[in-house]
Amino acid sequence: MDPSGKEVVLITGCSAGGIGHALARAFADNNCLVVATSRSRGSMADLEQDPTRFFLQELDVLSDTSVQHVLSTVLDKYGRIDVLVNNAGVGCVAPLAEIPLSALQHTFNTNVFGSMRLVQAVVPHMASRRKGKIVNVGSIAAMAPGPWTGAYIASKAALHALTDTLRLELRPLGIDVINVVPGAVRSNIADSTMSAYNRMPEWKLYKPFEAAIRETGYFSQGTKTTPTEEFANKTVAAVLKKNPPAWFSYGHYSTIMAIMHHLPLFIRDFFIRIALKC
Ligand SMILES: NC(=O)c1ccc[n+]([C@@H]2O[C@H](COP(=O)([O-])OP(=O)(O)OC[C@H]3O[C@@H](n4cnc5c(N)ncnc54)[C@H](OP(=O)(O)O)[C@@H]3O)[C@@H](O)[C@H]2O)c1
Repeated sequence: MDPSGKEVVLITGCSAGGIGHALARAFADNNCLVVATSRSRGSMADLEQDPTRFFLQELDVLSDTSVQHVLSTVLDKYGRIDVLVNNAGVGCVAPLAEIPLSALQHTFNTNVFGSMRLVQAVVPHMASRRKGKIVNVGSIAAMAPGPWTGAYIASKAALHALTDTLRLELRPLGIDVINVVPGAVRSNIADSTMSAYNRMPEWKLYKPFEAAIRETGYFSQGTKTTPTEEFANKTVAAVLKKNPPAWFSYGHYSTIMAIMHHLPLFIRDFFIRIALKC
């Protein structure tokens, strides 16, 4: 048990170079005890140097056993989890008419069911203390769906909807739910998305769009992309507020996408078709 009174924050997907890793550092800089998790400890080896602030655990959001094991280890060690950050996620680029259903399923399994697996595992503990915060990391892309990333966008739109309902359902149990909605933020997401893309079959109807599809995979990682640390510092400041916001969006494209969301569809489609070449 930890008597320090510091907030214990569990974050999924903390591989170096990504948002989870930067969030882990930002929470630790704000006097939190951080349970940094990822599929392999090696991907967050630098955090290992600082065991007073970071407790490292391997966690795969696709596995009940892995999630239950980590939760019981953390509760044995600290006696509590104050904040859960569902950050782990995968991108997916492919035209919807030809995407292998296994790729669509994997995207939902990770981004939607993976997050829900953590939520269901942690809620009984938080409810017993009538205290806790759950942060789901969505995506601004879900505000104005474009071509080629339909699987990813649909998974994040589903997560946004689940988060809205969770916020209402968990309030009577004393748990705050926060939808963190990144714009374009520097991370490894384009590299991992494109390595999955390179394993997909050749397109039939969409072969002429191959270059545009590939370009979309790197769309979030341009020169104006928001630095990871900047995004993490702003996010942590919002999450640690006594009354955290229901929705926190930050990062390149977040304002323009919020405006796009409210445009008439024919105008929105016009701009998206120009930007994404379809
Ligand atoms: N970067 C952006 O512009 C942006 C924009 C909108 C939303 N987001 C969201 O932000 C979150 C973080 O992504 P990121 O941009 O930081 O990308 P990233 O660098 O690729 O990080 C994704 C993290 O999720 C982990 N992950 C994937 N599958 C997992 C699984 N089954 N179990 C546990 N961990 C798993 C990855 O682990 P491995 O290293 O083992 O693959 C990695 O640690 C995601 O939810 C993403 O959708 C990012």
